[in-house]
Amino acid sequence: MTSNSIFKCIECKQDYSIKEIRYRCECGNLLEVQHDLKKSIPDPNKWKKSIDENLKTSAFHRYHSILFPSLPIEKIISLNEGDTPLYNVSNAFPNFGSLRLKHEGMNPTLSFKDRGMVAGVSWANHLGCNIVICASTGDTSAAMAAYAGLAPNMKGIVLLPDGKISPEQLAQPIASGAKTIGIKTDFDGCMNLVQKLTEKHDIYLLNSMNSVRIEGQKAIGIETLHQLGWNVPDWFIIPIGNAGNISALGKGLRELYKIGVINKLPKLAGIQTIGASPMYDSFKNNFSNLVPQKAKPTKASAIQIGNPVSYKKAVNEIKYFNGVVEAVNEVELMDWKAKIDRMGISICPNSAVAVSGCMKLQKNGIIKSNDDVVVILTAHGTKFSNTSVEYHQNISNKYANKTAIIEPDISQLEKAIL
Ligand code: F0G
Repeated sequence: MTSNSIFKCIECKQDYSIKEIRYRCECGNLLEVQHDLKKSIPDPNKWKKSIDENLKTSAFHRYHSILFPSLPIEKIISLNEGDTPLYNVSNAFPNFGSLRLKHEGMNPTLSFKDRGMVAGVSWANHLGCNIVICASTGDTSAAMAAYAGLAPNMKGIVLLPDGKISPEQLAQPIASGAKTIGIKTDFDGCMNLVQKLTEKHDIYLLNSMNSVRIEGQKAIGIETLHQLGWNVPDWFIIPIGNAGNISALGKGLRELYKIGVINKLPKLAGIQTIGASPMYDSFKNNFSNLVPQKAKPTKASAIQIGNPVSYKKAVNEIKYFNGVVEAVNEVELMDWKAKIDRMGISICPNSAVAVSGCMKLQKNGIIKSNDDVVVILTAHGTKFSNTSVEYHQNISNKYANKTAIIEPDISQLEKAIL
């Protein structure tokens, strides 16, 4: 069964066996997993019918034949990730044909990383790897630690930029039993170290530069289209950090198109913050090259990344889907976070980057007034409670909702409320 999939270099197209533990081609570029989808999905209509009949299984099981057909079902380590809500907020946003928010923060560890980790940890389980590792801005580590915790015989190690992740994100891998190491550097520094370590030691790397992870993350776009009855929107909008997720979104949609499940392609928009914008700067330069930068601190701390590992993959997808990259500032993103939060949809600052970018693209006329748009929300607001509390306690912020502190006295209470 494993012969159904191979690794292929995204640049020189060299093939490697899927059974190898390998993250890069000999030429240094990243690999992409390729499946024989004609074999696993010979008839797209039958496939669509079969997945409609399979709604009770987890999303990874349901879409297994397009996500990772060569992964044996009995090796899957799943926390029932997926089946996240797709909120239709069109009524509140009449400037769009329609606007929907795909809330990946409603996954078991409260971010989209569970989608990739079910593939990554299951594959590690299949290969018999007992030690897994990642560098992280907080969400990959939470997901990897949880899935490694569930696996029968697996130890997780996480490398975090010390002091640069939220308390909730730090609590997650500690509680799941992973060895948690804070490193006095930024994410790019942690990423550099983890690559060096896994070159020397027999430890399985589970960052998204491991192309196996990308296969699981394809489910976000595939599940969204399934929820839309395979009606393709005009745009998907997504935040970009290390650039794995936009690569996965593109790959999944490309494969659906290739096997004939959809017959229209959406456009992709990737959004960054102004202080951490290597993809945006490169886009402005016609993607001529990537200039790694020292990413500046941002409220969207999960995407404070200056040297995105999946840059080339992301560029390929953005070009294929005729996409764009936009950047937003801190005030814009925090005000949009507050606006979406108060609709009852709790989002993280990184998700707010995508929402804010979406509004900017609409204002600038890139997104048209009758376009159907899906924004991917990548993590839950509860993972970043300090950021929310700080915003709302500062009354100079546009949508601040400051807590009133009073003595236990009825007249003071009446004064505070009425
Ligand atoms: N949103 C959230 C909440 C994230 O945690 C990340 C990445 C992204 C967006 C960007 O996705 O890197 O695939 O472009 N977090 C990684 C981590 C880097 O370590 O948790 P990307």
